[in-house]
Amino acid sequence: MQSDQTKQPVSILVVDDESSIRELLREYLSIEGYRVDTAEDGNDAYAYLRKSYYDIVLTDLEMPGMNGIELLEKANTEGLNHKFIILTGFGTVETAIMALKLGALDYILKPFKLEELGFIVKKAVYRRRLEEENIQLREALSLYQISEAMILNNNIRAVLDLILEKAMHELDADIVMLTLKETISTPVITRVMKSSLDITAGELESALDKEKVFKRLQAERYMNLTGTQIDQIRGQGTISFDIHSYLSVAIGLMDRFYGALCAFRVKSEMPFTDAQRKLTTIFGERITTLLEVKRSDEGLQHAIIESIESLVKALEAKDGFTRGHSERVSVYAHILAQRLGLDGKSVLNVTQAGRLHDIGKIGIRYDALTKKDGLDREEYEQFKLHPGIGANILRPMSFLADIIPMILHHHERYDGKGYPDGLAGESIPLGARILAICDSFDVMTSDRPYRSSLPKEKVISELRSNSGTQFAPGLVDTMLLLLEGGEIPLLKDAFMKGHEKD
Ligand SMILES: [Fe+2]
Repeated sequence: MQSDQTKQPVSILVVDDESSIRELLREYLSIEGYRVDTAEDGNDAYAYLRKSYYDIVLTDLEMPGMNGIELLEKANTEGLNHKFIILTGFGTVETAIMALKLGALDYILKPFKLEELGFIVKKAVYRRRLEEENIQLREALSLYQISEAMILNNNIRAVLDLILEKAMHELDADIVMLTLKETISTPVITRVMKSSLDITAGELESALDKEKVFKRLQAERYMNLTGTQIDQIRGQGTISFDIHSYLSVAIGLMDRFYGALCAFRVKSEMPFTDAQRKLTTIFGERITTLLEVKRSDEGLQHAIIESIESLVKALEAKDGFTRGHSERVSVYAHILAQRLGLDGKSVLNVTQAGRLHDIGKIGIRYDALTKKDGLDREEYEQFKLHPGIGANILRPMSFLADIIPMILHHHERYDGKGYPDGLAGESIPLGARILAICDSFDVMTSDRPYRSSLPKEKVISELRSNSGTQFAPGLVDTMLLLLEGGEIPLLKDAFMKGHEKD
């Protein structure tokens, strides 16, 4: 008989302490086309199961040493995915039923007719094949849905959630958890999908020693633990239930380790099978691919941003007075945004916007930018186009979507008299309001062709008198606090020193 999946003959391990039965079964099943090995007791069989895979284990119940039930339990505990058929006498039918509860496929009463045994084996092989095909179809569908989401969905968190949901379902797990360590492109995240268990991600994480888990996974790539084996990775925290089975796979490549995808069984005592381990590895590989794509996207984005920044720098370097302006605005904006309590991503966005806010000047005539005696009306109208030109330059880069409004509106005024759109008050994006004040602050604290930098007192009085007209009052207050606390470095000199060296 051929197994459809592998085109290998179906393999059967016959376990019986009576050599006559072993030999009879070997002969009969070999004639039927099966590949047959025989073992004389549970211990002998266990050694076979450890080193070879069998489609069916046909085992006697009563044997010296390790009996049939103990063999079945041991195979279950170690995740050895073999299907058992129990050979049993009338006196042990109860035990045979217990074996069924432990996952055995069927039982055969002794004495048996060979055709009857042949029929039960055939039925078990058929059931096993159906089960495998079913599982494979279901898994294939899940993996297909994940692949589709990876292509169509830009939201990495949504795709990660989908993978966790599928893993939970396919692995028959009570909890699945993804723990990623912080890397350049990956924040620390722990995401947990759980059925009806009352436990938080934090509790679960503290119940395991994350560092130990990570260390072992980096070396071994996966762990499939049951019972007391789980103690090897326990952490300081305690949880209110027992973890019976624990499966985890490494996320990342050999030289770039990102974290772990873990599955837990709490309600059932069944260990995870090797097939489930392999499937978890595939889920883990999908997550690795997602993170790698994100990483290379970010690398590319970084390169693009750097080249735009170098354009701004080149533009400003043509004139000693504006040299380093955008970099300084970005430093001030960073400090102000942090003091305002913006979240990490928003602080980064404002800082980035600071570096790029004047990119639109690339589209303005150079002599108009560097004129010593002010701009005439037509030149000023030209100059006012630079926020819009900047936004248009950056618009094709979707990863800059959050900072484009800041750039477009960095010359709006709080009283609505700014440009390009005359937005007022809170309708000006917060990032643009921050840039507006930092932009002016740098202009005031730098030398210009038409005047020297203003002294600190004058800068403070200018900020105060323009609060509520040009600048957002709340931001002026914070800026003044920072200035009074000496928390805003005057960067002009640092940049000018660099300039003198050239
Ligand atoms: Fe500007």
